[in-house]
Amino acid sequence: MKRSAVYPGSFDPITKGHLDIIKRASQIFDEVIVAVLINPDKKGLFNIEERVELIKRVTRDIENVKTESFHGLLVDYMNEKGSNVIIKGLRAVSDFEYELQMSHMNKKLDATIETVFLMTSAKYSYLSSSSIKQVVMFGGCIDDLVPNEIIPDIMLKIDKK
Ligand code: PNS
Repeated sequence: MKRSAVYPGSFDPITKGHLDIIKRASQIFDEVIVAVLINPDKKGLFNIEERVELIKRVTRDIENVKTESFHGLLVDYMNEKGSNVIIKGLRAVSDFEYELQMSHMNKKLDATIETVFLMTSAKYSYLSSSSIKQVVMFGGCIDDLVPNEIIPDIMLKIDKK
């Protein structure tokens, strides 16, 4: 049986920390589905199609990774996909409480779903999509923070704002 896992998130935009989790998860599971949440209440920097395209671009060499978007409950999407493992990255203790709450909620909604936590690599433990947006906005350098091939997209987007 193919062991499939879903890595959900906002990915606005994908960071090197996210990519590191994707690569490591792809070595553990037969298939990793990166699932970008469609949240109509939250206008991001990139729209959903753009986020999906950026993730596809930086993961194109990882054979067993695919990227999609989803809306509604994560557990419903997972059942549709035939996966029962959620992958989450934990950067620090501060992530723990929120992630614990979400994993309990998902378990309550569907007892067959397990959340598997991977510790974010130490070198990316301070990274977040929102801090990256701020750094770019105020002219800072994001060279080590996001995959090189998406830096022009971020610059262009922020310039237009
Ligand atoms: O990158 P994020 O924004 O921390 O990701 C949060 C995400 C997408 C994993 C979470 O908001 C989610 O799963 N949303 C779907 C709605 C849902 O299933 N809610 C119930 C679990 S709390």
